[in-house]
Amino acid sequence: MVSPAEALQQYEEMSFRPDDVLIATYPKSGTMWMKELVCLIMSGGDPESVETSPDWVRVPCLETDHRIPLELRPSPRLLATHFPHHMMPQSFYQVKPKVIYVMRNPKDVCTSDYYFHFMGSFLVTPSSKRDFLHKFLEGKMIYGSWFDHVKSWLSAADTHRIMYICYEEMIEDLRGAVGRLSKFLDKPLEQEVIEQIADRCVFDNMKKNNMSNQSKAPPEILDQSKGTFMRKGVAGDWKNFLTVAEAEHFDAVYEKEMKGVGHELYFHK
Ligand code: A3P
Repeated sequence: MVSPAEALQQYEEMSFRPDDVLIATYPKSGTMWMKELVCLIMSGGDPESVETSPDWVRVPCLETDHRIPLELRPSPRLLATHFPHHMMPQSFYQVKPKVIYVMRNPKDVCTSDYYFHFMGSFLVTPSSKRDFLHKFLEGKMIYGSWFDHVKSWLSAADTHRIMYICYEEMIEDLRGAVGRLSKFLDKPLEQEVIEQIADRCVFDNMKKNNMSNQSKAPPEILDQSKGTFMRKGVAGDWKNFLTVAEAEHFDAVYEKEMKGVGHELYFHK
C-alpha cells in the first residue's frame, strides 16, 4: 500500500499516453456515472467489465488509486481525476490526452457533498449545514473551490481536447449524451447499443451494480451505516437542502465568481 505522499509523487511523475481518456470532475458531479458510461462505450456496449471489475480497477483515480501501477495498464487507459487543470502532471500538457469534464449545478454538488461527508470516513463530519455551506463557498474543501475547479478546466478549452458535459444534460437526455460521448471517443455505436448503454446507466439500474454503487467500499473509506453513495441521482435536490436565503446567497457568490467566464453553463439557475 503506497502512502498518500508516495501516491502524489507517482502522480506528478506519471506519463500520459496520447490514447488515454481522462474523466475530470469536481467531486460529486457524476464521476462514477461517467466511469460507467465510458467503460460501456469503449467496450462497444459489452457489460463484462462493469459487471466483473470494481470501478477503481477499470478507471483508477490518478491521485489516489495506485493499487495497479499505471504504466502496467494496457492502452487505451481510462483514468479519472478530481484535480483542477492547473494541477495536472507535466506530461499532460505535452501529450494532451482526451478529457471528459463533467460539471454539475454547484448547489446540487454542495448538497450531495454534504451528505457524502457523513459517510466518507476520510472526511470531516459537518458540524452544521450552515458551516458546511460556508466552507463550500469559500473553497475550504478537500479539492478546493468548485468555482476555481470549473474555471480551471474551462480555461483549457482552446488548448486541449476536452468534451464538456453537464450532469443535468445527462439527466435530461442520456441517450443523446451517450451519442455525443461515442463521437468524442471515436467509438461509433449503433442506435440500439446507445439505447442499451443509456438504459443500463439510468440511476435505478446502475444502482444495482455492486461494482459501481460503492456498497463494497471498506469502512475505512465509506461507512455504509451513515449514508448511500448512490443517494438520489436527481437534478435540483438543492431545493430540499438550501433555504431561500441560502440559495440567494449562493447565487450571488456564483455571479461574482463566474463573472466573465464566457461559457453558458447548462445548469445555471
Ligand atoms: P447525489 O448524492 O445527489 O444522489 P461522484 O461520482 O462524482 O461522487 O457523484 C456522486 C453523485 O452522482 C451522487 O449524487 C450520485 O447519486 C450521482 N449518480 C451516480 N450515478 C448516477 C446515475 N446513474 N444517474 C444519476 N446520478 C448518479
